[in-house]
Formats: sequence, C-alpha cells, structure tokens
Amino acid sequence: MRNIARIMLGIGMAGLLAATSLASGHEGAKEMTGPAKARHDAMETVKDHFVPLVKMVKGAAPFDAATVKKNAEVIAKKLEEASKLFPEGSDKGKTRAKPEIWTNRAEFDAIMKTAIEKAKALMNVDSPDKLAPAVMELGGKGCKACHEKFRKPKDEM
Ligand code: HEC
Repeated sequence: MRNIARIMLGIGMAGLLAATSLASGHEGAKEMTGPAKARHDAMETVKDHFVPLVKMVKGAAPFDAATVKKNAEVIAKKLEEASKLFPEGSDKGKTRAKPEIWTNRAEFDAIMKTAIEKAKALMNVDSPDKLAPAVMELGGKGCKACHEKFRKPKDEM
C-alpha cells in the first residue's frame, strides 16, 4: 500500500514537472509582442519545414521531391516575410534579435537574401544526391550564418 502510494506520487510529480516545463515554454512565446512575435512565428514555420528535409538527408525519412519542393517554397516565403519584420527599434522587449541587425543592416540583409536564394534553389532538387548539398548550403550560409552573428543565445533573451 505504502509502495503504491509512493509510485503514484512519483508519477504525479513527473506529470507535474512535464506540465510545468510545457507551460513555461508556451508562456515564453506568449510574452513576445509586435514584430518580435511575428518574426518568431515565421521562423518557427521555417524550422517546421526545414527539419523534415534534414531528416531526409539523414535517411530518417525517404526522399520525396514533392515534399522538398513544397517545404522549400514555404521556407523561402516565410523568410521573405521575416525579412520585413525587423523594423528599426524592435530590438527592445522580449526578443533574440541582436542590436547588430540594425547597426549592420547591410550584412543582415545580404545573409537573408542568400538564404532566400538557397531556399529557392532547394525547390528544384529532384534527386536524393542533390539534397544534402542543397540543405547544407541553406543551413550553413543561411540559418547558421545569420543566427551566429545576429541572434542572441536563448538564455540572454
Ligand atoms: C538573416 C537572418 C536569419 C536567417 C537567414 C534565418 N534566421 Fe532564424 N532567426 C533570426 C533571428 C534574428 C531570430 C530571432 C528573432 C527574435 O527573437 O526576434 C531567429 C529566430 C529563429 C527561430 C525561433 C527560435 C527562437 O527561440 O528564437 C527559429 C526556429 C529559426 N530562427 C530557425 C531558422 C531556420 C531553420 C533558418 C534557415 C532555414 C533560419 N532561421 C534563417 C535570423 C535568421
């Protein structure tokens, strides 16, 4: 009887912990407002369409040209949208955008342009052997290049 109670308590605690961490993650996103929230959401959509392509590269999902085309198209469109969501002064409040975006705008815009071009090139990938290089181009010269320079670590948001 005692043991069962302890086990029940254990499960209860684990459930509670999981719920708490989920809730705090959600709350974090909710606190973002204005352009920061809009570009965060656009970027999340970018990620949701990028991850399946990375899985294909890793062999965790079968190559499918139609999905590559569709996802790359969404990535290009959402990056284009995001590029217009960094107005002057929107480095305030809850955001991971670094002030360097506005002091070094030309470089930021150039990386964004490259990323959009790489996403468009990815749309035309029609065979598995072309997928890895195209995904790496977008990830390396797009996402990674920009995040390293212009995005704050999560804990400094
Ligand atoms: C030219 C710059 C640039 C490019 C290119 C770019 N990002 Fe971002 N990304 C940012 C910035 C800046 C933020 C932070 C926005 C904010 O918090 O206001 C961000 C935020 C994000 C987020 C939200 C998560 C978080 O906690 O901030 C995800 C997910 C993300 N990017 C994924 C991607 C992926 C995947 C790609 C490439 C396919 C990509 N990004 C390309 C600049 C870029």
